[in-house]
Amino acid sequence: MSDYTVRTLRPDEHRAAVDLFRSTLHVAATTDETWKIVERAQQPGRTLGAFDTELIGTARSFDAEITLPGGARAGAAGVTGVGVRPDRTRRGVLTELMRAQLTDIASRGLPFAVLRASEGVIYNRFGYGVTTRSRGYEIDRRRAVLRPDVPAGGQVELWPLDTALERLPGLYAALPHTRPGMMTRPPYWWPGWERHAREATSPVLTAVHHGEDGPDGYVVYRVERKHWNDPAVLEVISLHTGTDEAFNGLWRYLLGVDLVDTLRAGERPVDEPVELLFTDIRAVTDTGGGDELWLRLVDVPAALAARAYEGEPVVLDVVDPVLDANSRRYHVSPDGARRTEAAADLRLGVDALAMIYLGAWRPSQLAAAGRIQPANPAALERADRLFATPVPAWCGTHF
Ligand SMILES: CC(C)(COP(=O)(O)OP(=O)(O)OC[C@H]1O[C@@H](n2cnc3c(N)ncnc32)[C@H](O)[C@@H]1OP(=O)(O)O)[C@@H](O)C(=O)NCCC(=O)NCCS
Repeated sequence: MSDYTVRTLRPDEHRAAVDLFRSTLHVAATTDETWKIVERAQQPGRTLGAFDTELIGTARSFDAEITLPGGARAGAAGVTGVGVRPDRTRRGVLTELMRAQLTDIASRGLPFAVLRASEGVIYNRFGYGVTTRSRGYEIDRRRAVLRPDVPAGGQVELWPLDTALERLPGLYAALPHTRPGMMTRPPYWWPGWERHAREATSPVLTAVHHGEDGPDGYVVYRVERKHWNDPAVLEVISLHTGTDEAFNGLWRYLLGVDLVDTLRAGERPVDEPVELLFTDIRAVTDTGGGDELWLRLVDVPAALAARAYEGEPVVLDVVDPVLDANSRRYHVSPDGARRTEAAADLRLGVDALAMIYLGAWRPSQLAAAGRIQPANPAALERADRLFATPVPAWCGTHF
C-alpha cells in the first residue's frame, strides 16, 4: 500500500501544482503577473495532486482534438504539467498519477491522450508511444537565394503581440489541418503561448499571409542578437499555412527581414520542402529531429475505428498494461475496426500501436526491433499498407 493519496485539486490549489511542476523542471515559481496568465490555462477538475503530508506530485490535462488519417478529428486529452518532487521520486507516485489520469480520461469518453515528453524513458510503460516525428533546420540567409520560379505569394501583414493574441486563435482554427496528428488549440492552450511570448527576451511578431480569400497562413517569429556585433538569428516559433502560396509568401517575407544572418526552425514536418525554394539546396541544413507527439490510445476500439485505412485486413492482439479493457483482439480493415475472436496476426503493446497508428513507423520496422510479435509474418506487409498515411504525421503544437 502506498503512503500517499491522489485526488483532483480544487482551483485554489492549482497554483501550488503549477509551481511544483515548474520546480521539477528547475524553473522558479510563478510571479503574480505570470500566474494571472497561467491561471487561465487550468481546466477545472483536470489537475491531479498526489499528497503525503503535503503536495508531492501533479499531472493535469485539457480537452483538445487531433486529426486522424482520413481527416476525421477525435477527442484527445492534452496531458501536461507532470512532475514529482525530487525528494519523492522513484516510489511510484507518477505511476499512481498516470493510472488515475488515464482512468479519468477514459471515463470522460476521450479516445486519446497526447503529450510531449521531457525524457524518452518515462511514458512507454503507461501505454504512450511516439506518434509523430519532426525535423529542425537552419537557413543561411546569404546562401538562401529564392529560385526565380518560386511563386510570388500575396500580401504579408505584421501583427504585434496583442493583435496576435486576439486574432490568432481564430486564424489557427480556420486553417486546414492537413496532417494527421495536428491538434486543435482550445482556450486552455493559448495562455501558455501568451506566457512564452510575453517572457521572450526579444519581441514576438506574427506575420500573416493574405491569399485571395483572406488570411491563409501565419508565422510567429522573433530575432535574437546577443550583442550588437553578434550574428542575429531569426527563430521561427510557429508556422502554419493553408496553401502553398502562403508557405512560399511567408518564407519570402522571412528572408527579407533585415539584420538577420540565420533563420532557424525547429519541430517542423519531416518532409517540409523548404530547400526546394532556393537556388542552392544546401542553404538549408538539418539541425536534428526527434520525437514530437506521444499518443495513448485510451479507448482502443473507438480509436481504431476512428481512422481511415487502405488495403487488406489484419487481426491485432493488443496488450494494455494499464487499461485492461483494451487488451483484446481487433479486426482492422478499410471497412473499420471491431473486436474479434479470430486468431491474431500480430501481437503488440498499446504503446507500439500508438507508434504505428499515425504512420510514424511501419509495423514491419517495429517487428524487426522486437516490439511487435508477428504470429503470421505474412501479415506484416498488409499491416504496413493498412496503417500507412499519405503524408507524414505532424503535430506542430507545443504544450
Ligand atoms: C518523470 C517523473 C514525473 C517520474 O516520477 P516518479 O514518481 O519518480 O515515477 P515512478 O516512481 O512512478 O516511476 C515509475 C517507473 O518509471 C521509471 N522512471 C520514471 N521516471 C524516470 C526517469 N526520468 N528516468 C528513468 N526512469 C524513470 C522508474 O524508475 C520506475 O521504474 P520501475 O517501475 O521499473 O521501478 C519525475 O522524475 C519528475 O518529476 N521529473 C522531472 C520533471 C519531468 O521530467 N516531468 C515530465 C514532464 S513531461
